[in-house]
Amino acid sequence: MFDLKSYLAAKQIPINDFLQETIKKTANSGRISEAMEYSLMAGGKRIRPVLCMAACEAVNGNYKYALPAACSIEMIHTYSLIHDDLPAMDDDILRRGKLTSHVKYDEATAILAGDALLTLAFKTLSTAGLSIKGDNTAALKWLEIISFISTAAGFEGMIEGQMRDIVAEKTVLDFNQLEQIHLLKTGALIKASVLTGAILGKGTGEQLQHLEIYGKNIGLAFQVADDILNIEGDPLVMGKTAGTDNLHGKNTYPFLIGLAESKQFAEKLIARALDSMDFFGAKADPLRAIASYIIKRKQ
Ligand code: IPE
Ligand code: IPE
Ligand code: MG
Ligand code: MG
Repeated sequence: MFDLKSYLAAKQIPINDFLQETIKKTANSGRISEAMEYSLMAGGKRIRPVLCMAACEAVNGNYKYALPAACSIEMIHTYSLIHDDLPAMDDDILRRGKLTSHVKYDEATAILAGDALLTLAFKTLSTAGLSIKGDNTAALKWLEIISFISTAAGFEGMIEGQMRDIVAEKTVLDFNQLEQIHLLKTGALIKASVLTGAILGKGTGEQLQHLEIYGKNIGLAFQVADDILNIEGDPLVMGKTAGTDNLHGKNTYPFLIGLAESKQFAEKLIARALDSMDFFGAKADPLRAIASYIIKRKQ
């Protein structure tokens, strides 16, 4: 029986080590470095980098090769959280069990810490690509994922989702509009995490096709679960405040279709993700377990 808890714990070690090492190299920047470290090392679940490494392994790659890319995605994710919590966005005071960056420091520092993490991610990605000497095909794969990740994180992906999420506050969207927001604001980066690992692991076109279906479905389910947790979750376990979506008039699945139907919908998405894994053998067991975990999690 595959043990997800120990798998996650084992993968979190190289992720946290790599992130800590990378932040250490920014130390001469003083205040901004401190603010970057504060949010990055606050104890996130590291689901995106783990997904990246697990997808690399699912296609027979070595997860260590994908580590710089996996960690770059975590930097982008952390930046998105810092900005998501700003007063002009969701105005939250708690994140990862700690005060949000703008409360701990100030708004200017939080904005800059987010900017710095986003740019550090692309520095880390390009440095990893440049370190490959004498193998142009491998170096090109790094360029490919840089293009891919920037698309997922930018105006065609996460940023577009965040924009629509904010604009739609206190309005009522239809099901398709909400699905698009969730696919963009959260799904895009999660799907990119999976595909990045598979591309770096030299997955075949067919493997990538299946992983794309997997990534899309777990990405959407992840945000549906986040919506549900915002109502039912324990703030102490989640490390963030509950009840805030309702307060801000956010469009969420429970708001549009109710809690029970939202849970059913999330289960349907995970079933689809698991179907797409039939193509793979035991090497995809971590991906299977993560899919199930995404809708069972309390954090
Ligand atoms: C929270 O992401 C924000 C969403 C996109 C739903 P996570 O639930 O992965 O947060 P951390 O990284 O564990 O703090
Ligand atoms: C987060 O969405 C999406 C991004 C940060 C890109 P939410 O605003 O719903 O997530 P939480 O609940 O604050 O973590
Ligand atoms: Mg938000
Ligand atoms: Mg938020």
